Amino acid sequence: MPAITASSPGKIILCGEHAVVYGAPAIALPVFQVSTQTTILARPTAAQGEVKIVAPCINLDDNLDALDDQHPLKAAANLVKEALGISRLQACEIRINSSIPLAAGLGSSASVTVSMVSALSQFLGHPLELDAVNRIAFEVEKIHHGTPSGIDNTVITYETPIYFQKDSPIEHLSINRGFKLVIADSGTATLTAETVAGVRERWQKNREEYDNVIAHIGELSREIRHILCKKDLLAQGDLLTQNHNLLCKLGVSTWKLDHLVKTALEAGATGAKLSGGGGGGNIIAIVDPSKAAIVAQALVENGAVHTIITSIEADTAVR
Ligand code: MEV
Repeated sequence: MPAITASSPGKIILCGEHAVVYGAPAIALPVFQVSTQTTILARPTAAQGEVKIVAPCINLDDNLDALDDQHPLKAAANLVKEALGISRLQACEIRINSSIPLAAGLGSSASVTVSMVSALSQFLGHPLELDAVNRIAFEVEKIHHGTPSGIDNTVITYETPIYFQKDSPIEHLSINRGFKLVIADSGTATLTAETVAGVRERWQKNREEYDNVIAHIGELSREIRHILCKKDLLAQGDLLTQNHNLLCKLGVSTWKLDHLVKTALEAGATGAKLSGGGGGGNIIAIVDPSKAAIVAQALVENGAVHTIITSIEADTAVR
């Protein structure tokens, strides 16, 4: 049997992280410069049902059976079996490679799950529909992140810009006018589970103030959705900076993220913000194409460990 490979992108949150956990809308874009590939090879000579899983990106090289049921990859495999109504996998090797930095706000966990679930279901001869892949990836995200909104698995599964609100149909966004983003890694790893839990703790202590900030972020997402679909976000990049300032009020920014945002603005970005859980990870800056390299250079000179320049084309996903 030939090897099966499935690939999934990374993601950024353009507006609305954290607020989306409380029911506000948010906007996310897939990022194809980073990705996960899962390859599955049959092992005809291995013992029946023996599944080897090799994922250097998370230092994993083991038999699937040896993993705890709450291990995200074991849980993903079990959910695929359940969805397909099978009790045992064929002997195979699952190889997962990802170029998405871990704990950096770029969706590494969701990307690994989505690519593995897609590859495994194809390998088993019954490729799951995207909705089913997304449902499984959401269950696995709960193991990773506690109380995720579902935005990461959704944007990574469908690979299109999305306007996302919990318990509402997914809206795939069309982009009226393309733009460029510089994505810059602060070099500090951050666990979304921890930043989400931190916001919840502070929200419980100060509901009124936090609810106001969350509502304000939701308004920004609605405004940005309108601009993306009808106008030119680059000309109104300040809305991203406003989102960053509100995320500061939620307590998820850091000195370094603030410094990178300020650097991007001073170097010519029209707007910039942290993206993802915060507490470290990446910032994004919206730039005129002629300024992308200058902004990226300024970010590296001011402490970013890595930058990606990505184009969001009119009416297509991020490539
Ligand atoms: C993480 O990419 C986005 C957060 O809002 C968490 C979530 O929505 O699950 C911080």
